Amino acid sequence: MSFRIQPPAPSRPNRCQLFGPGSRPERFVKMANSAADVVNLDLEDSVAPSDKESARANVVAGISEVDWGNKTLSVRINGLDTPYWYRDVVDLLEQAGERLDQIMIPKVGCASDVYAVDALVTAIETAKGRSKKIDFEVIIESAAGIAHVEEIAAASPRMVAMSLGAADFAASMGMQTTGIGGTQENYYMLRDGAKHWSDPWHWAQAAIVAACRTHGVLPVDGPFGDFSDDDGFRAQARRSATLGMVGKWAIHPKQIETANEVFTPSAEAVAEAREILAAMEQAKANGEGATVYKGRLVDIASIKQAEVIVRQAELIGKA
Ligand code: COA
Ligand code: MG
Repeated sequence: MSFRIQPPAPSRPNRCQLFGPGSRPERFVKMANSAADVVNLDLEDSVAPSDKESARANVVAGISEVDWGNKTLSVRINGLDTPYWYRDVVDLLEQAGERLDQIMIPKVGCASDVYAVDALVTAIETAKGRSKKIDFEVIIESAAGIAHVEEIAAASPRMVAMSLGAADFAASMGMQTTGIGGTQENYYMLRDGAKHWSDPWHWAQAAIVAACRTHGVLPVDGPFGDFSDDDGFRAQARRSATLGMVGKWAIHPKQIETANEVFTPSAEAVAEAREILAAMEQAKANGEGATVYKGRLVDIASIKQAEVIVRQAELIGKA
């Protein structure tokens, strides 16, 4: 057991991140009025090359003009392998108002990618006297990203969140699929002739959760492309929540409600967690480190498990 205490991740609701292209500014108000905890205005892959400059201008204006309420407001810049990213950062930091909370860096492959953006952001923040420090979120969506996931999580004090980007990840890994998240037809085990589908995203998600939890960063599940498949989205979100992720992207407004529901601990889960805490209080009073709750063992580790659920519910205001 390391003597180092695991740092807490930022204490903010992050159940759903709603994405929308910077080239569709008429949708910004809808995004602001949605029930998502985080809004991601996109300058990257949902914006065509011919629209990059106008999208950037739309986003710079929208940050100040739209009332974003209490949402975390984030802009996804272009990748470091493009000619667009530096201008994204410069214009956002020089021209956009203080309402901007966060920059999302896509396709991060190593800690130096984050360092490079940090250096540019830090210089402009200082030069312009910006009072609010911009946070970073990154997308792990390449073989290099997952191979270097831990150094990326630790790459900057600005790091607050990390998402898995299933589509680019699958392409970079050479995976035989065009699906964006969810069940993959050919990824199954056979038993007695019957197929049992397995989860090809699981290991990458688990690696992201471990890196994030080690370094106090929020682990987030990325997009689920088939927005007509509500049950598939729910199943994917439930798996992510079970693994320790705190939220999921919505690439269409119809996914928001399900994400909020899945990543809010249910009233039953919170009640059970509180009962476990009470049972352990009683055990402590009796001088015991372990006791029985509903026929199963609970011990000091159970306190920490129950506290995860209660803390998450309190954060969301549902405790
Ligand atoms: N944010 C806010 N509102 C949105 C929205 C979004 N991302 N996507 C759709 N809407 C609104 C539409 O304006 C429409 O509103 P209305 O009923 O008031 O007219 C309503 O939701 C239904 O839209 P719909 O016709 O079903 O969507 P579409 O076919 O026009 O667009 C997408 C579908 C997927 C192209 C669109 O949802 C989108 O651009 N998603 C985000 C893509 C993105 O950002 N990708 C990058 C991250 S992977
Ligand atoms: Mg991507």
